[in-house]
Amino acid sequence: MRISGRTRTYGILGYPVGHSLSPVMQNAAFAQLKFDAAYLPFEVRPEDLRAALDGVRALGIAGVNVTIPHKEAVLAYLDDVDPEAAAIGAVNTVVNRDGRLIGYNTDGAGFLAALKSEARFTPKKRNVLILGAGGAARGIAHTVASAGAASLVIANRTVSHADLMAQGLSHHFPYLKVRTCDLNPAAMEPHLASAHLVIQTTSLGMKPTDPSPLPAKLFRKDHVVCDIVYTQETPLLKAARSRGAKVSGGLGMLIHQGAAAVFLWTGRRPNLNAMKQALVAGIRAKSARKR
Ligand code: ATR
Repeated sequence: MRISGRTRTYGILGYPVGHSLSPVMQNAAFAQLKFDAAYLPFEVRPEDLRAALDGVRALGIAGVNVTIPHKEAVLAYLDDVDPEAAAIGAVNTVVNRDGRLIGYNTDGAGFLAALKSEARFTPKKRNVLILGAGGAARGIAHTVASAGAASLVIANRTVSHADLMAQGLSHHFPYLKVRTCDLNPAAMEPHLASAHLVIQTTSLGMKPTDPSPLPAKLFRKDHVVCDIVYTQETPLLKAARSRGAKVSGGLGMLIHQGAAAVFLWTGRRPNLNAMKQALVAGIRAKSARKR
């Protein structure tokens, strides 16, 4: 990478941010496009978020990604928010348009694009079971509902969180059938039986010793099962794959949401393979450091 007086600056705001693979992936995207830009990690404490966005304006940083824990809080400090991001209540991409900061959410579009390319699946008129009711679940559920899903069941450890998320979804999608249940196999079994698509959005599975939230015997060949964890194939995906279900890990979603952000910033479509190669090398280097 060559830095000159004309190089544009991009970055990611998060706390912590040292684990993020976005710098590796987005710099690879820029390099492949021959776009004169650099993408940096910015560790921003929650109490400094407003100042950080003023800094983005003052320094003329051309765009940022936003990650945990700022995706929701950042909306308050932007000049404008895309309607879909506003409805989800979370922003993961900010574009600096002549000093005005505009927020977008590419997580949902990234999820749908990955699902289409990896499992050849679209959620229209399909039944969806989603595990988890946090920020990631809300974004994905909103997108799946927008894409015309027939029904949605939200399974969560704390059912009251799932109930709150269900209320928000029913408000935006009055005709969508939304139900909730506990995150245990017995409660999920009847919903899995009628589901076409299962989406795992909790942190369960990040450690290889985590148990699968659903036993293998409940999966069928015609299930499509996604997990947002991208560091390795989770016990859930292994269980589903052992029964012949189509599975899709979090790597595809990470790449597609990043590519959608690059498109918002540059108007160009980056090469997904170049981004994937950089990510896989980054994940390998990280696990080698841990050993
Ligand atoms: P994110 O933005 O990544 O979705 P989050 O908003 O903190 O993160 O949400 C975390 C989700 O993972 C929640 O659904 C949480 O369940 P609770 O609502 O009961 O807290 C779920 N989660 C986290 N750790 C979990 C665990 N060990 N077992 C089951 N669910 C877990």
